[in-house]
Amino acid sequence: NMVDKGNHRHFMLKEIYEQPDAISHTVSHYLDLANGKVKLPAKLPFDFKSLNRLTISACGTAFYAGLVAKYWFEKYARLPVEVDVASEFRYREPPMDADGLALFISQSGETADTLAALRYCKAQGQHIASIVNAQESTIARESDIVFPIQCGPEISVASTKATTAQLSVLASLAIAAGRQRGTISEAEEFELVDMLAKLPGAITKALASEDKIDQISHALSKADDVLYLGRGSLFPIALEGALKLKEITYIHAEGYASGELKHGPIALIDETLPVVVVAPSDQLFDKTISNMHEVAARGGKIILITDEAGAKSAGDDVSEIIIVPDAHEFVMPIICAIPVQLLAYHTAVFMGTDVDQPRNLAKSVTVE
Ligand code: G6P
Repeated sequence: NMVDKGNHRHFMLKEIYEQPDAISHTVSHYLDLANGKVKLPAKLPFDFKSLNRLTISACGTAFYAGLVAKYWFEKYARLPVEVDVASEFRYREPPMDADGLALFISQSGETADTLAALRYCKAQGQHIASIVNAQESTIARESDIVFPIQCGPEISVASTKATTAQLSVLASLAIAAGRQRGTISEAEEFELVDMLAKLPGAITKALASEDKIDQISHALSKADDVLYLGRGSLFPIALEGALKLKEITYIHAEGYASGELKHGPIALIDETLPVVVVAPSDQLFDKTISNMHEVAARGGKIILITDEAGAKSAGDDVSEIIIVPDAHEFVMPIICAIPVQLLAYHTAVFMGTDVDQPRNLAKSVTVE
């Protein structure tokens, strides 16, 4: 392998730190910064305006990127989005109308279930697009159009820079879709593009919490179970945080939509259950504060990932706070991906697991 770890102890940490560059590289491919516009490939084989549905299929972390994209496409482009894990999608024979776009997200471009879902959609007459890192891959070859991510090879089994690069592409596409469908104005496009342009700087700031996260990870390593909560476009980041933790520390973790707390997970809460809440101060932050109160009242220890304003209004219910830089809600899922990656990474290092090659997992799952 030509890639080495440089000064980093693990590929995962190296790749976490490559994110500002990877995102900057990726977005420069999709954004015309001088004019504040998204630039799409000249020969786009479909147009967002005539689409009646976007269907996203993927596996693992890439599936969670698709789930974030659903929030973006529905909000900014008013385009109905269906997202499913490819292993379910491929066998349930979903009906698909004409004028649908099927989008596949895969770092490797070789995941068996994602490829099977692609072939199903092709047979259903959908336009086929993919977001891949490996441009020579089977998924790339079988797509009508490929939206590449420009993050370089990813070695660590747990995906980090490929995920945030995928999210950056998805965010760019959602803006383009909004413009083509007339649901965002030119001025709004300009602002959203500017947020993506500033993302590498925000990611660099988010990385500065590493020491704090390292300290928090020592206590987290003692837990048998960890609950992650988030709402809206941060819900998939809660799912991603839980996935990363279980993949590399083998601690059982679950991600839940904050609003579902009362519908089950609250029964688990006691002093032994850390709860990681991913919640910047948005319009629904009051609801998150009341969720945290319910957790704290049962002795649950809360680790809150939030911005400055969220930290100020969080109150005494919170045991630990990890601050992310202030940003618009549009880019928050990408920024909040950083602390959940670092939390899993440091917990794994503290526990002494094989971070880059966790047991039983493969970088690319090419058989069912
Ligand atoms: C495996 C990897 C994950 C990855 C998933 C999908 O489970 O361990 O890190 O998210 O496959 O892989 P893909 O290459 O399709 O993105």
